Amino acid sequence: MCAQTEFWDNAKGLLEEWYVACTSKELKKDQPFAATLYGKKIVLFRKKDGRAAALLDQCVHRGVPLSDGKVKNGCVSCPYHGWSYQADGHVAYIPSVNGKFFPEKPHPFKQRSFDVCEQDGVVWIYLGEKPENQRPAVFKLPFYDQPGWLSYYMVGKYDGEMGAVAQNIMDVTHTIFVHEGWFRSESGKAVDATIEVEPRKVVVEYHDHDADVGMMPWLTNPHGAEQVHRDSFIAPNITLVEYHWGEPSGMVFNSLISPVGPYESRVYTCVSYKFPIPKLIAKALMPAVNAYTWVVNNQDIKILSARRKGLENMPMTHSHSVRGDMAHIALEKILDALRHDQQLAPSFIGKRPMQFQI
Ligand code: FES
Ligand SMILES: [Fe+2]
Repeated sequence: MCAQTEFWDNAKGLLEEWYVACTSKELKKDQPFAATLYGKKIVLFRKKDGRAAALLDQCVHRGVPLSDGKVKNGCVSCPYHGWSYQADGHVAYIPSVNGKFFPEKPHPFKQRSFDVCEQDGVVWIYLGEKPENQRPAVFKLPFYDQPGWLSYYMVGKYDGEMGAVAQNIMDVTHTIFVHEGWFRSESGKAVDATIEVEPRKVVVEYHDHDADVGMMPWLTNPHGAEQVHRDSFIAPNITLVEYHWGEPSGMVFNSLISPVGPYESRVYTCVSYKFPIPKLIAKALMPAVNAYTWVVNNQDIKILSARRKGLENMPMTHSHSVRGDMAHIALEKILDALRHDQQLAPSFIGKRPMQFQI
């Protein structure tokens, strides 16, 4: 069995979920887009009405990837013999059979199609086979397009599996090392937090309301408002890191993690911000905010790539954890339960205090 197929098959219950295949901007009107999810290539294209469609990226004639072809008349056509596919996967047109003309009825030949949902500037695909009424809902980004808030996406390749990326984002203790001077510096203080675990969710509420997280406080919090910091993991592939400084100001990092390969993920981070300044000026600041968030993002990308090297040198059969890693352990347990189509053990569910030193 090839490694890609193995990765897909091992995902088991995790396939019955929605994943982001690309941003709306990446999926052009007349060009196919090749996405990889759990090692499988999927071709996306736009129908005549602009709506997105997704098929397994393989021609049913001789197997050539459809993403190497073209988009014509709302169909994706194979570069080898020109077979064209419509959004439901049926072959709409075979030049050697139909000549120049589209037949009235599509051919019975069919490639697997995936259900697609485009919202909040990204294209989600449902990878599983469950009927609509048994699927989880597509995640609605809570701050995208909200009045007063501005948003943009950072799309990055991380050398880590979905759980490792989610752990990295849900992890405060790394910030004083990996982002030293950029985001948070060592305080020598203990931080108290509350962790709440639900069957598909982990929420950590931090109680360090006066912590200086160094996100341009002169801009984000000139009035010294109490800081609300909350990190959430929404299974299987979403993290939401929220900082709020009173009602007029906040900065939110909503990451949508798509597994590409065993040690690789594509992460779509929607950064939403609201500053206590006129919106037009806040908008003009977007390139600077984007540059700052990319510095921090690249530091995480670098440390995960170092971790990958470490693991490739010697696979870890067991990783040791401390009390500050409670959120990481909980999110891995949730992923494990979903993978095996099981319920999360009741002993993990509930609210608990958590403390660590930074
Ligand atoms: S391989 Fe695709 S048309 Fe022949
Ligand atoms: Fe980080």
